[in-house]
Amino acid sequence: MKKHAACPCLSDPEAPVGFFDSGVGGLSVLRAARRALPRENMIYFADSAHCPYGGRSSGFVRSRSLAITRFLLARGAKAVVVACNSASEAALEHLRRSFPGLEFVGIEPAVKVAQRLSRNHRIGVLGTSLTLGGERFSRLLENFAAGTEVYSQPVAGLVESIEAGRLDDPRTDAIIRRNLRPLLKKGIDTLVLGCTHYPVIKERIAAACGPGVEVIDTGLPVARQLRRRLGARNLLRLSLGAGRIEYFSSGEPAVVAPVMRAIMADPSLRVIRRAP
Ligand code: DGL
Repeated sequence: MKKHAACPCLSDPEAPVGFFDSGVGGLSVLRAARRALPRENMIYFADSAHCPYGGRSSGFVRSRSLAITRFLLARGAKAVVVACNSASEAALEHLRRSFPGLEFVGIEPAVKVAQRLSRNHRIGVLGTSLTLGGERFSRLLENFAAGTEVYSQPVAGLVESIEAGRLDDPRTDAIIRRNLRPLLKKGIDTLVLGCTHYPVIKERIAAACGPGVEVIDTGLPVARQLRRRLGARNLLRLSLGAGRIEYFSSGEPAVVAPVMRAIMADPSLRVIRRAP
């Protein structure tokens, strides 16, 4: 396996934190990180030209993750947040081995939290086929779901709907309802959003679940983990003033930018096209 040379920015607190996802979903993580770490400079990469990752092979997602990490490093990233459950499932271990000096923060469905919160010990997990069919996820269930019934539901079409900007649309609601039905029939009282796209429409998912189900996502715990990891390496940016955020995508900015603006509630957001 090829190891990659360390970069001087790995010890510079001014350097940005890189985030990536197959598309706009990882913005749900970036938003939480921005709240927890407002001074940090950040770079976001949406691999929109190859979205969705959820139905792809692990090998494909791994090679995209390597290429994007190289791009983020070339832009000076001091740490990388894999803001995608599918890429964390397919590539996180490989990325850590390939870039040994670099801090990676990954994401996984919040089964541990759900297990603590659930009163009836029945939880549902929505995610992509790649995440829910993967080894990391089955290890997570083995280690943290003892005594709990976990019903996982691979969701088709929802990522595409969000990428298309159908955030407030009956077609998106129909996909949500269709995929929740089998979980609600099992009587779940806790639902894990196991794909970073879904928190973008968390209110709609919660409304479709009804008041008896708690819906949880992983943005905030990931942001806290990032803060701990940067702190442990003396990499927290201490300069006063809000950090800068730059947005890149392998897709067409005219298509991607309006969706990103809606999610970030920032009409001035600009997207630069890059094809690592
Ligand atoms: N947002 C991603 C995840 O958390 C990827 C979804 C996809 O591209 O299928 O899994």
